[in-house]
Amino acid sequence: SWGKGHAQLPETLTVSPLLPQIIQTQLSQQAGIKVRATTKAPLLSVRLDRRLSGREAYRLSVGPRGMQLLARDSSGLLQGGQTLLQLVGQYGRRLPQLSITDSARFAWRGIMLDVSRHFMSADFIIQLLDEMARYKMNRFHWHLVDGGGWRFPSDKYPLLTKKAAWRTLADWDSWWQHDRRFVDEGTPRAYGGAYTKDDIRRVVAHAARLGITVVPEIELPGHSNELPAAYPELTCKGKWTFDATDVCIGRESTFRFFEDILDEVLELFPSYYIHIGGDEAAMNHWGSCPDCRARMKQEGLKDEHELQSYVIRRAEKMLAKYGKKLIGWDEILEGGLAPTATVMSWQGEKGGIQAANMGHDVIMTPGSGGLYIDHYQGDPKIEPVAICCYSTLEKVYSYNPIPEAIAPDKRHHIKGAQANLWAEYLYTTPLMQYRAFPREIALAEAVWTPLEKKNYKDFERRLDNA
Ligand code: ACM
Ligand code: ZN
Repeated sequence: SWGKGHAQLPETLTVSPLLPQIIQTQLSQQAGIKVRATTKAPLLSVRLDRRLSGREAYRLSVGPRGMQLLARDSSGLLQGGQTLLQLVGQYGRRLPQLSITDSARFAWRGIMLDVSRHFMSADFIIQLLDEMARYKMNRFHWHLVDGGGWRFPSDKYPLLTKKAAWRTLADWDSWWQHDRRFVDEGTPRAYGGAYTKDDIRRVVAHAARLGITVVPEIELPGHSNELPAAYPELTCKGKWTFDATDVCIGRESTFRFFEDILDEVLELFPSYYIHIGGDEAAMNHWGSCPDCRARMKQEGLKDEHELQSYVIRRAEKMLAKYGKKLIGWDEILEGGLAPTATVMSWQGEKGGIQAANMGHDVIMTPGSGGLYIDHYQGDPKIEPVAICCYSTLEKVYSYNPIPEAIAPDKRHHIKGAQANLWAEYLYTTPLMQYRAFPREIALAEAVWTPLEKKNYKDFERRLDNA
């Protein structure tokens, strides 16, 4: 609600020390407003107030004699702080008098970035996190490994980033359709990259300051074409082949590898949720592999889907030992869903609907709902090459994560939604930004704003004014 008149901010804004440090820093860095924290009658008083209702709720008031930020919890403080940054960004020091009462519709407001098909630096990701926070997004799903290259630094398996992070060609189609070979780190003209543990610590720490959880994804059993370049014994044939996509589920060494990697992952990522992939296993070698066949026989698994389900259940047990919760792509429903798994629904909404109706938590990220923001957003005749389909700004904006087909008493299992940014055609960071924006902003509103308050025309107007 709008008040009458304006409030002029002084040269130096005094704030309660409770205003999150990152907001104080950004007020000065982005808006050029000097900030001084004080408990003595600050111009911006900040308090926690449990009586505010709603998720991450806050109330921000600008009055004639000062400003007040009330928040339900520490997330609410950050969200209210981001709103203040937006106001100052739009109005400068002369703020309109107003009162904003706000809260989030969903807990999971995510972006996934694939850094395997094209590597993106930690500094670039830190920039992306700042942008996410600006729009109150709070989950960064980091797709760290895939057939395009392994990016996670492991002390125990150093060959992963020495031999499976650098490829012969940068161009995705030329490489993926015809080559798929990796070369050693340091090879002239090799294309790729990997993070150091310090890079990861920096990203995770910056995200934490912004209230963003970084959810790492380490894939199994499919999308693992890069692994045999470093450790061929992880695949059924025990060597690199063009079509070696999956790990061998027969051998215990595969599970030791995965557990060792998880150990190192969990040292760096405090996230309760850990994503283990689970999508699009080719299942082309398991049936003829003596070890996989022996596993199926011994465990009474009737087909490849049940073999896949076996891996996911074991991954779930490994994570449970550390008190962590497994997320997988919706293929983990095939062959029997692991009892406590959270499902990320990407092949439309049907997997999400099924899982929610079974009482599992779900994150919606359907390509058909527009949430694959690697798809075209404008006329393909004049757009840079993209993958597959068409996902306009309006389509993303219009997405409602709660399908009618979910029983009303199961709807709380929909934790939120996420836009996925796959990187096959993200050759450069400007291209990546072009794909992410403004569609990420449309999603941000779709997961934050109450359904009845969404209005695309109004969104377009505000976006143009921003
Ligand atoms: C996926 O797009 N394969 C999750
Ligand atoms: Zn095998």
